[in-house]
Amino acid sequence: MNENTQKLNLKREIGLVSAVSLIAGTMIGSGIFMSPQWVLYHIGSPGGSLVIWAACGLLAMLGSLSYAELGTVIKESGGEYIYILRTSGPLPAFLLAFTSMLVVRPASIAGIALSFAEYAVAPFYQGCPPPELVVKFVAAACILLLAIANCLNVRGSMSIQVFFMAAKLISLVVIIIGGVVMLINGHTSSFQNAFQGTIVGINPIGMAFYQGLWSYDGWNNLNYVTEELKRPEVNLPRAVMIAIPLVTVLYLLVNISYLAVMTPTELMSSSAVAVTWGNKVLGSWSWLMSVAAALSSFGSLNGTFFSGGRLCYVAAREGHMPDILSMAHVQRLTPSPALIFSTAISLLVLIPGNFKSIVNFFSFTAWFFYAITLSGLLYLKLKKRHLPESYEVPVVIPIIVIISAVFLVLAPIIDDPGIEYLYVSLFILSGVMFYIPFIHFKLCPNFLTKATVFLQLFLEVAPTEKNTD
Ligand code: ARG
Repeated sequence: MNENTQKLNLKREIGLVSAVSLIAGTMIGSGIFMSPQWVLYHIGSPGGSLVIWAACGLLAMLGSLSYAELGTVIKESGGEYIYILRTSGPLPAFLLAFTSMLVVRPASIAGIALSFAEYAVAPFYQGCPPPELVVKFVAAACILLLAIANCLNVRGSMSIQVFFMAAKLISLVVIIIGGVVMLINGHTSSFQNAFQGTIVGINPIGMAFYQGLWSYDGWNNLNYVTEELKRPEVNLPRAVMIAIPLVTVLYLLVNISYLAVMTPTELMSSSAVAVTWGNKVLGSWSWLMSVAAALSSFGSLNGTFFSGGRLCYVAAREGHMPDILSMAHVQRLTPSPALIFSTAISLLVLIPGNFKSIVNFFSFTAWFFYAITLSGLLYLKLKKRHLPESYEVPVVIPIIVIISAVFLVLAPIIDDPGIEYLYVSLFILSGVMFYIPFIHFKLCPNFLTKATVFLQLFLEVAPTEKNTD
């Protein structure tokens, strides 16, 4: 990371193609292989589920266009963290960094790893759901493996990323072609009376969105690395306009294919939908689908480990995170303390969690902060803080996204108050208890200084900040 940051700060290296793959490569991961059944389950009908998938794509598009404006007005890396810091002040920014480190990122790591595990073990348990313990064990092994790989070598883990990106595109295209063949052969029963049984209610719609939006998450990924992007005012909006419609179309076609091959009931009862799809279309080659879906999740997890370090790093640069978390290994130049920290929390999340509840928590918390970030954009727009070259979106776009985000955050609570959401909210607020002594009054307990020195020697890490100034 050290070397990367140094180099990337001097040279802007990410061009349009890398920018598009940075967005699409993170978005396409576990969700499209895991969430379709939950979207269908909550909304109740195939027609309704396709509408939700399209609406999620639209929301991701509007959200990322608004973020493109933010990225060209506030030119620093760090995504939501830096935007909230520059528009709403240090406390909300700290709460975001705190929640992101302790909830959002570990939840996404655990969720993707569970999807990997579900598919990796599927071929060994044909016809019956695999034991939960086995799935969790494999998920934990996958997290540990990737954590070690990312601690050892940044470059290596980046080049595997390209391979996995290709694997997932090929598998989605195979699913789409299979679906088209099935549709031509007259398998259209799922689409007759497509909207029959649609459940219209605030909570079901909100839950269906949570699951769908998980698959689209990553639309904001380029905003974490604005400082490294060539001509951000051109490439940021352009990359978004290419990547997000591309992913939306792929997701819609894949869902149509699932529904062409399976009845809605079959889809809902499958624990690994791509495997059921494979059994019906590829016959004895169905294991290929498990491999493809597992590789897709593996690649997305690798990317999440890699890019996740940046928010923490920028927050540490601003003095909002313990120094140790922004340090890198002296020779390998990998951000090992931050990686080890995320790994430990992710493993804890994995113990009680299942894919569906992890994704719900993730979406709830993530959209809470997307709304705050976009309120900052509205503030900038009202104050007309614009640079001549910055990209601008019509003001209705962030307004639509903010209203949707408020709905997404409040819907599950108002309609069916689950105690878990109260816990998450209290957790976010509990960050204030850390903010006041450690950030506001800059108290640094003696043991923390000692622990930093000890960990620094033990992990052979050193501060990385100097290179970025
Ligand atoms: N969309 C991804 C998937 O379907 C999950 C992305 C998690 N978020 C992130 N920023 N890495 O698996």
